Amino acid sequence: MTTATHPRTTTATTLPQPADAPGASRPRTGPEVHLLPQTNQLRALHTAVRDRDARREDFVFYTGRIIRMLTEAALDLLPFEPHDVTTPVGRTYRGLRFADDLVGVPIVRAGESMEAELRAVVPGVRIGKILIQRDRTTKQPRLYYTAFPEDIATRQVLLLDPMLATGGTALAAIEVLRDLGVPERNIVFVTFITCPEGLAAVGDRFPGVRIVTSAIEEGLNENAFMMPGIGDFGDRYFGTD
Ligand code: PRP
Ligand code: MG
Repeated sequence: MTTATHPRTTTATTLPQPADAPGASRPRTGPEVHLLPQTNQLRALHTAVRDRDARREDFVFYTGRIIRMLTEAALDLLPFEPHDVTTPVGRTYRGLRFADDLVGVPIVRAGESMEAELRAVVPGVRIGKILIQRDRTTKQPRLYYTAFPEDIATRQVLLLDPMLATGGTALAAIEVLRDLGVPERNIVFVTFITCPEGLAAVGDRFPGVRIVTSAIEEGLNENAFMMPGIGDFGDRYFGTD
């Protein structure tokens, strides 16, 4: 696994899962979660954006810095192949390059906050779109629109959404990709903030999907908000709160 050769980039974590119900037919397996190292710098960035009084420009700026870290960590999980080059002094550098083509897929709306950082590190990257909105009252996700490169089934997919809460939105988006023929193992779900409930939901249905995140919260409150959390990421980022 990539983390074995880049141990300081991400930390693969298998989360403890709720005990199986009596008579459950199969053991539950946790999803493969890559939590960014919880450095002091990362905690300071989180402190800036979790503050309810943060100015919008600070929220956008500092979440952008964390999203850049998440993007770099996600790229590190993609397959690489050997690629040698000749250096300016005529020696061979035995290197690597990305083995497969890539597509970024933000889940609109909030996922679009993550698109710019991906474009900044992968110039010309293909971008698909999935528009999913949760009903404000029931919190159930509804799928409104999709657009993808026609060869998406053969690409590595970075699925982008800053919040993985109940998991309803993520599951709906992964189903869309699965129905297009994208193997689970080709999907890396990149999310700013998540919680055990959302991780378990994805891990139960799509155990091959890997998840990269910068924070795992205590859990959800009765309104399906993460605690202590960050509020509604999309509303704070786009100024619709
Ligand atoms: C938010 C967020 C995720 C989803 C997470 O989107 O961006 O897509 O909720 O919640 P879940 O895991 O319980 O499904 P929302 O529908 O609120 O709209 P937005 O993207 O426009 O902010
Ligand atoms: Mg959303």
